[in-house]
This record gives sequence, structure tokens and C-alpha cells, in this order.
Amino acid sequence: MAEFDVIIIGAGPGGYVSAIRCAQLGLKTAVVEGRDTLGGTCLNVGCIPSKALLHASHLLHETHENFEKMGLMGASPKVDWKKMLSYKDDVIGQNTKGIEFLFKKNKVTWIKGWASIPEPGKVKVGDEVHAAKNIVIATGSEASSLPGVEIDEKTVVTSTGALTLPKIPKSMVVIGAGVIGLEMGSVYARLGADVTVVEYLDAITPGMDAEVAKNFQKILTRQGLKFVLGAAVQKVDVAKGKAKVSYKLRKDDSEATLDADVVLVATGRKPYTAGLGLEALGVEMEPRGQVKTDGHFATNVKGLYAIGDAIVGPMLAHKAEDEGMALAEILAGKAGHVNYGVIPGVVYTTPEVASVGKTEEQLKEQGRAYKVGKFPFMGNARAKAVFQGEGFVKLLADAQTDRILGCHIIGPSAGDLIHEVCVAMEFGASAQDLALTCHAHPTFSEAVREAALACGDGAIHA
Ligand code: NAI
Repeated sequence: MAEFDVIIIGAGPGGYVSAIRCAQLGLKTAVVEGRDTLGGTCLNVGCIPSKALLHASHLLHETHENFEKMGLMGASPKVDWKKMLSYKDDVIGQNTKGIEFLFKKNKVTWIKGWASIPEPGKVKVGDEVHAAKNIVIATGSEASSLPGVEIDEKTVVTSTGALTLPKIPKSMVVIGAGVIGLEMGSVYARLGADVTVVEYLDAITPGMDAEVAKNFQKILTRQGLKFVLGAAVQKVDVAKGKAKVSYKLRKDDSEATLDADVVLVATGRKPYTAGLGLEALGVEMEPRGQVKTDGHFATNVKGLYAIGDAIVGPMLAHKAEDEGMALAEILAGKAGHVNYGVIPGVVYTTPEVASVGKTEEQLKEQGRAYKVGKFPFMGNARAKAVFQGEGFVKLLADAQTDRILGCHIIGPSAGDLIHEVCVAMEFGASAQDLALTCHAHPTFSEAVREAALACGDGAIHA
């Protein structure tokens, strides 16, 4: 029986990052992963493949929308869907193999198979039992569906099926205007599908700063996405490979239907802990199915820890990674820490949407005095040069101390721009600190500085 300092169950961003850090800190580490490739949902059927399709479909959209304006003439390219999917698969392959390489480099053992925990300190994979001083549950999450909606991954798909459709559908209904729904909805809309998003709430992207969400919806509508808001989906019927989505409008209980070639169910995800044997072990769970942990990722069972989508908090790869690194430090006798107040969120549509810290709604709810510095990308020369003048940067700072409390960006490269605000927030910076920092011209990041200037004596270009 092999004996390890740490066995991590699951090789997604939480698990594999934690394993590498554990090994770097001198712990004998193994990861159990049953998939044929490392990287979990994110690399195999989530973040990475969706970004490949977003990139390809964005470029196609550019050829339709902007090429002629720049004097780039000629017929726009035809889509070879099979080839686009194989490009996406190549991207997945490069990344998953990269993790295999990192495991070898750091001497992390990959135990192939599906794990269960028969007793504390033991991990069973197939017929073999491995001993570990510490066991980490990093098993992630799976798509959750709705009553009356049966997923077949052909006509009614989750994000997994949406990444491997045999052909581009003519029409698609997306249930749920969250991150997955809007990213994948954008891909298929740009590839020519007629996409309707049906959302239970009265606004898209719940939890997002309301002003940004409203602007975002307007932009997506201009791009051709249709929205039915305040609508609860009741059921989806499938006949002869076509779907009929029935929903009820919440305001008046009226019922309506939508026909579609494909229905994408994007109504959230739930922790995936099936088959681990947690109930028999007596592991305490949260009411919504997550593994219950203390502030140091420990469960109520000695030597058993959990991170990532399997515990409470935003279901984001980078949150899982940070928890994985912090836990590795803790297991190595150091002080691991995650600052949950500074975890950015990004939607990788065009334009991108990114946020960190508090929204205006949260600050109002807390009764906190704050000021707003806003700057539109229309005032940013670089953004205009690349047809990305839509959107704005909105910086929120404490009314008295000027300390940055949050930032919300809709615009070009928002997902990258947000990080200078994250760093500023980690250092407890004021809006003035950002405003006094020289930003290269012409860059999109000048819009962040201008928003910071707008928190003080005023932006220059607005
Ligand atoms: P989500 O929680 O972001 O959005 C689900 C949406 O479905 C909500 O707006 C909800 O109101 C709506 N909904 C629920 N029941 C409904 C019904 N019966 N009828 C109509 N609408 C209904 O979930 P999503 O988009 O599935 O994403 C799952 C997780 O994956 C999220 O935690 C998300 O943060 C994460 N993710 C993050 C990405 C990123 O950071 N770029 C990309 C993809 C996923």
C-alpha cells in the first residue's frame, strides 16, 4: 500500500494547483482522477474549450461587422464546424498535456480511476487502497437541471453537450441568463443561430452590478440575442429531435412556448461528491449539498479537507485554485489564506464584463457612503480604433477615505483590466492611488485610470 502525505481527489483547477503547490512544499502528493485527461471540467468541458469557440466566433463576427470598415474586402469565411471543433479539441489537448508535464516535473503521482474514502486516511481506487495523512476533496461540480427538463446532451444539452454539437443549430433556447448561458449563447448567435435566452429573474446575470447588467443586455440584444425575462421554464418536450420549451411569465402567470433545435440548460451547477462515501464517513454537509468546512478547509473528519466548487462560495476556477494553494500551505505548516473580498468575476463575451468587490446595490444595502467614478470607453482612443467603444469602467470608492470598494467594467479586455484594481484592492489602495499611477497611452487601461480620476477632480477625456 502506497503512503502519501496528501491525496487529492479531482484534478480540476482546485485539485491540480493544490497538488503542484503541495509537492513544491515538500509533501509526497498524489491526485486521483478518473477522466482520461487532467484539468477537470474547466479544461476539458468548460472554461478553456468555451474560450476557443468564443475566440473563433468573435473573429467571424468581426469579418461580418468591421472588416469592410477597415478596407478589408472580400467574402467572409465559411464556417467548417468540424474543423472549429477540432481546433477547440487541440486547445484542450495542449492544456491537459501541460498539466501532465507539470505533474511529472513536480513529482506528483497521478492515480488513474475514481476514488472513494472507505475510512479516514484511506483512498480506494479500483481494488487498490492508498493511505494518506491528508485527503482533499476537490471533486468540483456538475450541471443542475430543472424539474420537467430531461438532459439528453443531444437536443437538450448542458454546457458539456453545447461544446460538441454535431452541427450549428438554426435555433437555440438558452435557459438561464447566467455566465454559461450568455457565453455559449453568444457563440451560437455569432455562428448564425437564432438564440433566445429565457431567464427566471427580471434581469440578466444575477448578482452583477445592475447598471452593468442593463448595459450588457442592451449590447447583447444589439448583437442579435433575444431575451425573455421574468419567465420560469416549466418543461421541455422533445419530439423528432426538436424541442418545445414551455414557460410561465411570472408577472401574470401567462404561458407561452418556444421551439428550438437545441435547448441549453444553464441554470447553475451543484457540487459533485457522489460515490466518495461521505455519508458513511459522517461528513457534515451544507443544506445546499456542499461539503461543510471551517475557515481552513477542514471538514469535521480528521485529515479530510475540501476546496473549490465542492464547498461554499463562487463556483469559479480561480477561487478553487486559490483555495488549493492556501490549503497546500496549511498542510505544509504555513499560513494559507484566501481573500474572498477580492475575487474577480469575468464573462468572456464581447465586450467582456468583469467585476471585483462590492456592487452599488451591495453598498446601498450596507448603508455605506460611497462615490462613483465612471468613464465610458467612447472616450478611450484605443477602444474606438478597434470598434470597442461600447461600455464603461465604474469604480466605487469610500466617500470619506477614498479606499477602492469595487470595480465593474464592461468593455474591451475587461477581464484583464480588472486585475490592476484587484492588486490595488489587495494593497488597500485609494482611487487617488490609481489616478496618480501613470498608464501607457494608448491602452484600454487608461479607462480604469480615468474612472479613478472621476472619483476625484474629474476624468480628462469625458
Ligand atoms: P448561474 O448561476 O450563473 O445562472 C443561472 C441562471 O439561471 C440564473 O440567472 C437563474 O435565475 C436562471 N434560472 C434558474 N432557474 C430557471 C428557470 N426555471 N427558468 C429560467 N431561468 C432560470 O449558472 P450558470 O450560468 O449555469 O453557471 C454555473 C456556474 O459556473 C456559475 O457559478 C458560474 O459562475 C460558473 N461559470 C463561470 C464562468 C466564468 O467565470 N466565465 C463560465 C461558466 C461558468
